[in-house]
Amino acid sequence: MRLDKFICKSTELTRTEAKKLLKSGIVTVNGAIAKDPAMQVHENNEVAIEQQILSARQSRYIMLNKPQDTICSNVDEVYPSVLHYIDVDKAFDLHIAGRLDADTTGLVLITDDGRWSHNIISPKKLCQKRYRVWLRDDIDEAVIDKFLTGVQLQGEKNLTAPARLDIVDVREVLLTITEGKYHQVKRMFAAVGNKVVGLHREQIGNIALDQSLLEGQWRYLTEAEIASVS
Ligand code: URA
Repeated sequence: MRLDKFICKSTELTRTEAKKLLKSGIVTVNGAIAKDPAMQVHENNEVAIEQQILSARQSRYIMLNKPQDTICSNVDEVYPSVLHYIDVDKAFDLHIAGRLDADTTGLVLITDDGRWSHNIISPKKLCQKRYRVWLRDDIDEAVIDKFLTGVQLQGEKNLTAPARLDIVDVREVLLTITEGKYHQVKRMFAAVGNKVVGLHREQIGNIALDQSLLEGQWRYLTEAEIASVS
């Protein structure tokens, strides 16, 4: 991790304050003065401010039940960021592992561990995301095979990766996908002539949305939940 980020993580300082501190020449890495904010440091490096050794704060892993009309961004736009619900120190240093649209509800995972979130986001990792989908029109059973084979989304080069469709009711289904293309679920149903009228994420990998969390509520992940993502 970058040295300025390491300092922020292990103190109350902002990135700008950390950079100022580095410039002043009172920070050492393994005993040598370090001034470059971009210098890469690892857990086994000894970073100190005026001989006070810093230990990086533990990474944070959170699940939130996202309400409608909130956005999965660190910046407020038309709607407020979901990070406003996370009443912890430096909440806006956290990032969202797999965004949801403003009108989608349900499971959002939030962390400051980029390596961990990469395992969720990267299509190469094949991390499954399960959505409950409400549809405008009755589902045609032929869609099960179409989604398994892959459908062509407008503007995409390749077919979608194999996805599993479970029919709950004529207009309610569960869709499990391993990709996270822009508006993917809505575009998949549009590709087969239907329309999503409600969307709720229930599960990411082995982490299921805690049913005791009301919309807008959050909790830290358990050790087992954190370890289940790899
Ligand atoms: N697919 C969508 O279309 N929207 C979401 O919010 C998530 C997946």
